Amino acid sequence: MSWDGSSFPEFNADCTSLLARYLSRQMYDRLKDKTTKNGYKFLQAINSGVINQDSQIGVYAGDAESYDLFSPLLDLVIEDYHGFSKDDRHRSDFDLSRLSISNPDPDGEFIVSTRIRVGRNVADIPLGAAMNSSQRCSVETLVANSVRDLKGELAGTYYPLKGMDDGVQRQLIKDHFLFKDGDRFLAAAGLNRHWPEGRGIFHNQEKTFLVWVNEEDQLRIISMQQGGDIQAVFERLLTGVHAIAETVPYLYDRRLGYLTSCPSNLGTAMRASVHIRLPKLALDLPAFNLVAEEHHLQIRGVHGEHSSSEDGVFDISNTRRLGITEIDCVQELYQGVVALINKEKQISTGPVDKTPGPV
Ligand code: ADP
Ligand code: ARG
Repeated sequence: MSWDGSSFPEFNADCTSLLARYLSRQMYDRLKDKTTKNGYKFLQAINSGVINQDSQIGVYAGDAESYDLFSPLLDLVIEDYHGFSKDDRHRSDFDLSRLSISNPDPDGEFIVSTRIRVGRNVADIPLGAAMNSSQRCSVETLVANSVRDLKGELAGTYYPLKGMDDGVQRQLIKDHFLFKDGDRFLAAAGLNRHWPEGRGIFHNQEKTFLVWVNEEDQLRIISMQQGGDIQAVFERLLTGVHAIAETVPYLYDRRLGYLTSCPSNLGTAMRASVHIRLPKLALDLPAFNLVAEEHHLQIRGVHGEHSSSEDGVFDISNTRRLGITEIDCVQELYQGVVALINKEKQISTGPVDKTPGPV
């Protein structure tokens, strides 16, 4: 679908994005000519959701100012996604002493792997959708220099995407370490301009600590490992996040927390996930979805967002990231995973709904 922005966008009857839900004609008329000081236009902010009618959210910010200037729309999207109102204020908390978890699957029966990531962007530089080529390259240099100083278990190497061997790139994606290219949601938001320039990945020797550079956010800091030791994954992440903060000033807003390209990632910008084998729940979708909803969990496929599940293995993560702390995100994942494992164990092997898995 193409759209030139000259009139109110048409949304298909089956479009369920938050953009379609909240963008009224009156709001469109009020915002359509607005542009931030970095030159990011309202029409760019909504382009991805107009072009990709299967979007869940459909809007991207181009800079910190987007969250103010386009607030008539973004505040409604944020409130709907995170349950965070205009009068709420985000608070960060990295205090591990408040975390009360253990490995939910010590025998390794269900959890294949655990991954926790945060998104970060650099203060005083536009976000990916509005930055120019030289700003993108300066972010790459800043981050590549910062990760060069990481010590001990975190020490590793930065690999620019430009010039990376195709086979190496494919294998990194297949093994869940690297982002895919060509994401149509990001492309329509202007986040893939000048690809692969300025993009890359840092990882330590074990590939348990990684940093993606200039994908959807300027930094995605990731800790991951096989099995269900959520606490170890979280501790490693925090060590890395704090170490990089010594040389990279993160973009932070007093109300919205860490600012990100997509409003779904605001606040903690944290997605804590497990790849978990739930073959019985996969065949009992009402029960699966009920537990997921009760625990504010999102269900994705095993090859990332917009992919499908394979062999009864799902990516389960915290849905909410804003208005709850980092500790809460991890605690929420833990409790939800415990509930899912209990449900999986309870399900009898009687007649089941054979419809394909969610996602
Ligand atoms: P994000 O928004 O967190 O970057 P994506 O859904 O785009 O997430 O996934 C990015 C990559 O991370 C994909 O390859 C996905 O399979 C992988 N991934 C996510 N969670 C896990 C996990 N718990 N274990 C292993 N790989 C994971
Ligand atoms: N823009 C896409 C959509 O609306 C992605 C939304 C959430 N995911 C993300 N990676 N920001 O469906």
